Amino acid sequence: MNSPLSRRQMLAASAGIATAATLHGRAARAGGAVVISSKNGLRCVQEAYRRVTGGERPVRAAVMGVAINEDDPEDMSVGYGGLPNEEGVVQLDAACMDGPSANAGAVAAIENIKNPAQVAFFVMEHTDHVLLVGEGAKRFARSYGFPEQDLLTDKARAIWLRWRAARSRNDDWLSPADGSDLELDAQGRLYGTIHCSVLAPNGDLGCATTTSGLSFKIPGRVGDSPLIGCGLYCDNDVGSAGATGRGEASILSGVSWLVVERMRAGDEPTQACLHALRRVSEYARRQSRWQPALWAGDRPSFDLTLYALRKDGQFGCASLRAGKDERVFAVCDAQGARHETGALLYPN
Ligand code: GLY
Repeated sequence: MNSPLSRRQMLAASAGIATAATLHGRAARAGGAVVISSKNGLRCVQEAYRRVTGGERPVRAAVMGVAINEDDPEDMSVGYGGLPNEEGVVQLDAACMDGPSANAGAVAAIENIKNPAQVAFFVMEHTDHVLLVGEGAKRFARSYGFPEQDLLTDKARAIWLRWRAARSRNDDWLSPADGSDLELDAQGRLYGTIHCSVLAPNGDLGCATTTSGLSFKIPGRVGDSPLIGCGLYCDNDVGSAGATGRGEASILSGVSWLVVERMRAGDEPTQACLHALRRVSEYARRQSRWQPALWAGDRPSFDLTLYALRKDGQFGCASLRAGKDERVFAVCDAQGARHETGALLYPN
């Protein structure tokens, strides 16, 4: 893959840490490598598995796995081709976390750079900071040779123009005659993201999450994906976790941190995800007194899916409700890449 991350400088940095981990003598896991991702990550898990079984650090394997979606204009939730904010500008969020070094990097609201997870990797590897935002993040990326490009595809622009025309009867935009063909959630918004957690054969963990965020968001809105503990988290002694769906709910409950801590306390991965979703549901119920649209009947009106990969190779996934892209997740291990079905907090 032609990217700044593949340069010799980065390989050297990666090799340094990998060598240190090896020297400190962690025994190889009998179970081998495991990679999990969101539903849109079938090719991602294959690529990350290939890389981590080839000796790459799990965090790097995750970052390069999600790059497949960042590069894909047909994945309108991530990178190039992602849906824009309300002004028609694509703003991307991403983060990665490295288990062995307990370090992380992130970028938020970055424009014109299609691989924000790789920029997050550079933040982690080359700075004493965790999160860079906006123009500063872009300038940082440019300094490492990431090219600037327009990320708004014709298809994404057409969807945005249709949304802008249809959103209100009280403006000067003429509504499309045939109505909107977008599949919206109960709040009339589209969320999309890819998360990837990777377990290496030696037991090391790493993860990445990348997104174009909430479609048609207010410019500058940052979701959960670049926030450590929210859109992703890993602890090399315990496991790795991530989230896709309504970022605001993920942030308010610190879901990825919570999933990892529940696994530390002994929960199975799916149990840990369900525990965090119960917290999310309770917070949504409280919030709904001021934002009634967040609650529908006896449950939250929005979707959130959590992914968990434990250090022993066990994995799980759970969603609040069975939305279009929820519940199903991607896995790759010695049995190959496949989709599996996760649990639901509200099955009926
Ligand atoms: N989970 C992606 C976002 O809300 O931005």
